[in-house]
Amino acid sequence: MNRERNELRATLRQKFPRNRGQLLPALHYLHHEFGYLPDWAMEVVGWHLGIPSSEVYGAATSYTELRIRKPAEHVIRVCTGLSCWMNGGKRLLAEAHAVLADGGVQDSFTLEETPCAYICGVAPVAEIDGELRGRLSEGKLSAIIGEVSS
Ligand code: FES
Repeated sequence: MNRERNELRATLRQKFPRNRGQLLPALHYLHHEFGYLPDWAMEVVGWHLGIPSSEVYGAATSYTELRIRKPAEHVIRVCTGLSCWMNGGKRLLAEAHAVLADGGVQDSFTLEETPCAYICGVAPVAEIDGELRGRLSEGKLSAIIGEVSS
């Protein structure tokens, strides 16, 4: 772990000047590198930027695109923006919960809600393992979950 911390410190020194304005860029960088924000890495960012851990954590938990827990093998993000919600997003979310529970595969999936993905014209939308899919129905989403989990 110390090696990882030292490597991250060196990287942060190269990429991010030591000022508070770099907090969000640094958190996005971590998220891209790890797929989430590990506690230890947020501590290192706080140390590097001179920001208390509580503030780093507060910023990390204020943005829906930042995840503070390690995701499961597969990630489903159902858009809950207005257009999607009005066009079946609520049903998609309920279906995803039901399919994952019925299939006993919850441990393999992280199910999240996400704000507008800016492709409202093909609502309702979900992102499955980083790929945006539009014009989804409950049946299509169930089939995708089945394909991904097999
Ligand atoms: S509301 Fe879902 S893509 Fe815009």
